[in-house]
Amino acid sequence: MLKVTIDGQTIEVPDGTTILQAARMLGPEVAPPAMCYYSKLETSGGYCRTCIVKVTKGSEKDPRPMPKPVASCRTIVMDGMEVQNKTSPELLEARKGVVEFLLANHPLDCPVCDQAGECHLQDLSFEHGAESTRYEFERRTFEKIDIGPHVQLHMTRCILCYRCVMTADQLTEKRVHGVMNRGDAAEISTYITQGIENDFSGNIIDVCPVGALTDKTFRFANRVWFTKPVDAHRDCPTCSGKVVLWYRGADVLRVTARKNEYNEVIEFICNDCRFERKQTSDWVIDGPRHIERTSVISQGHYEGGTKVAEFTKRLAADQYKKIDDLPVQPPRQLSPDTAR
Ligand code: SF4
Ligand code: FES
Repeated sequence: MLKVTIDGQTIEVPDGTTILQAARMLGPEVAPPAMCYYSKLETSGGYCRTCIVKVTKGSEKDPRPMPKPVASCRTIVMDGMEVQNKTSPELLEARKGVVEFLLANHPLDCPVCDQAGECHLQDLSFEHGAESTRYEFERRTFEKIDIGPHVQLHMTRCILCYRCVMTADQLTEKRVHGVMNRGDAAEISTYITQGIENDFSGNIIDVCPVGALTDKTFRFANRVWFTKPVDAHRDCPTCSGKVVLWYRGADVLRVTARKNEYNEVIEFICNDCRFERKQTSDWVIDGPRHIERTSVISQGHYEGGTKVAEFTKRLAADQYKKIDDLPVQPPRQLSPDTAR
């Protein structure tokens, strides 16, 4: 076991653990943000640099500090290593620079973006972003394209984290999309207008940290913080069948996989569960989904309220037969014309 100290907290970790993994063992208060690393995906990480940390002591054997910030998702812990994340003002300043770079080609269209409220870049900009940009050139823009029957790509928002490429590579039988070209010409695209259709392809929507890949069955249906997330499961022959149903009134507006405190999918789900099962009767209701207090989605004080307990109880009993039965207002659909 190797000893590492991060922001003053010491932990022993097995050989081969990265600084980011060690920090996550200590908890979310210590862990650096990660836009491209994804614990479920092999070889992920190393693209976005949001996870940088300052290594003030390399190891017991060689205590020299590392000369510049390192990507914690790609740097292996050495015995006796000392690391600063939130306790270093220079590091926070450097992370601000990384966010500025990520935003150089990312539109600030959160008010109309489907990912708003659960976007890592939005959170990161809120925490570390500068109040104005120094970027003077025209931003890259792309037309929206349909990549398959369920997913829409808006490349303008993509930060080229490669998560969707790795998900398709490691989870589906045949990957038909990837990053084309290099440098500022790089873009996500399908190979010669192919559609992404295989059984687990919907998971690329869940792993996308921004609003570049969106669920066509949910686009502009509602703002995520107005919806009520409920844990549910079904006996699915293809996947675990454990999902979150996002309700507005008695309508299931979307189905997603369940995510952990780092916004990573716990178990990937199949397209049938995600896109074809939008009736309460398709599911066994487990109860309200726990949403972190830091998330804007929790602003509706969803968990713990008596109204909510009643709502899930009656959902489970399939008692909502007519709209007047609802304890909440019926859904108000956003128009695609206004929400662009
Ligand atoms: S589309 Fe999303 S998941 Fe794919 S590379 Fe771009 S930001 Fe990452
Ligand atoms: S999370 Fe480490 S480089 Fe992106």
